Amino acid sequence: MRTQVAIVGAGPAGLVLSHLLHLRGIDSVVLELRSRDYVEQRVRAGVLEQGTVELLQATGVGERLGRQGMVHHGIELRFGGRRHRIPLTELTGRSITIYGQQEIVKDLIRARLEAGGTVLFEVEGVRLQGLASDRPVVSYRHGGQDVELACDLVAGCDGYHGVCRDAIPAGTLTVYERLYPFAWLGVLAAVAPSAEEIVYTSHQRGFALHSMRSPELTRLYLQVDPDEPIERWPDERIWEELQTRLATEDGWTLGEGPILEKGVSAMRSFVVEPMQFGRLFLAGDAAHIVPATGAKGMNLAIADVQVLAEALATWYRTGEDGLLGGYSAACLRRVWRVQDFSAWMTGMLHRYPDDDGFQRRLRRARLEYVAGSEAAARSLAENYVGLERV
Ligand code: FAD
Ligand code: DHB
Repeated sequence: MRTQVAIVGAGPAGLVLSHLLHLRGIDSVVLELRSRDYVEQRVRAGVLEQGTVELLQATGVGERLGRQGMVHHGIELRFGGRRHRIPLTELTGRSITIYGQQEIVKDLIRARLEAGGTVLFEVEGVRLQGLASDRPVVSYRHGGQDVELACDLVAGCDGYHGVCRDAIPAGTLTVYERLYPFAWLGVLAAVAPSAEEIVYTSHQRGFALHSMRSPELTRLYLQVDPDEPIERWPDERIWEELQTRLATEDGWTLGEGPILEKGVSAMRSFVVEPMQFGRLFLAGDAAHIVPATGAKGMNLAIADVQVLAEALATWYRTGEDGLLGGYSAACLRRVWRVQDFSAWMTGMLHRYPDDDGFQRRLRRARLEYVAGSEAAARSLAENYVGLERV
């Protein structure tokens, strides 16, 4: 088998890349470990920067997003039992849209298949060879057959636990990493959201987040201990903790409903440099992870492949490899800006095991500054709605 670009992973990075390449007349094959059903049901991120929405709409995969996405013009910071609105649109002229990651994945898979694209599911044993040559080969097993896929380049879009990053020879990459001493317990509940906008709460018992997916579905998160077994969190305990952390002085109430899904995710910052080796280009979570507090992971993954698609299009059209050679540096500038923002949001809103009175007071001062100063709020807002794309 042969294609121009072999894409490993059908998450947002791999699917958007395949779609953008198709629009530029470049052929790709997407290889996904899991089943179609699995990737279409996996509940993850939900906040889209305006730049992400604009890209999806401008490239013909934003129709359902336009109908079902919830456009928000502000977020709420809650601490000391009080609410403080950050008016994103007033401060930046831009907005965010809430639309589940798995809905984007569904829209993209459908668009690729309808356009005659190749997205293979339940692909096992992906191995990359010849990355330092100009004839790389991806071997894998699919439908009981061993396959060798020859290509010009490989896009490693297989997430943090994928195999592409590990195909790069030892000593080539530099890894930058921070683990946070807490995790997030995320739940999806069948109940109408109790607030119109996303609520980020700093409470002495830990961080809590109230978000949503639709007028009938609420998405909620709680800071918990790292590696917390989910069995320690029966539904009643989750609601009790959410009620405590989200409570306000003004009588706001949190509606409860059946919990449809729950899971614990680690919080980490992770970057590899460079994001390229020979004919392999890493994109999205395969190259970097941000702590979820800034709602940036998926947006960053999509921003990477926008740069990659542009660079590949230029390379195929003109043979010039300047943009491809600059791919890693161009992405890493954004990645580090977003790492800083995500680490800053995380630090401001979470409780740390080694907190002392000094740390708690610094955090409170930071929250009060953001809530009270237009300059500070604008800085948060411009990062939150997303920096300019290429
Ligand atoms: P992924 O979405 O991880 O896609 C990679 C794909 O590659 C997957 O489909 C995977 O099955 C496939 N794959 C892996 N290994 C192989 C292999 N060997 N062969 C073939 N295919 C392979 N971000 C937020 O902003 N807010 C959130 O609330 C949030 N929650 C998250 C919860 C979890 C549990 C996780 C893991 C991430 C979360 N994120 C969140 C981050 C966000 O979802 C990611 O940044 C985003 O999914 C990155 O997209 P991606 O395409 O780079 O990677
Ligand atoms: C959601 C996830 C985030 O990481 C965040 O910062 C805000 C909202 C969400 O899933 O809706």
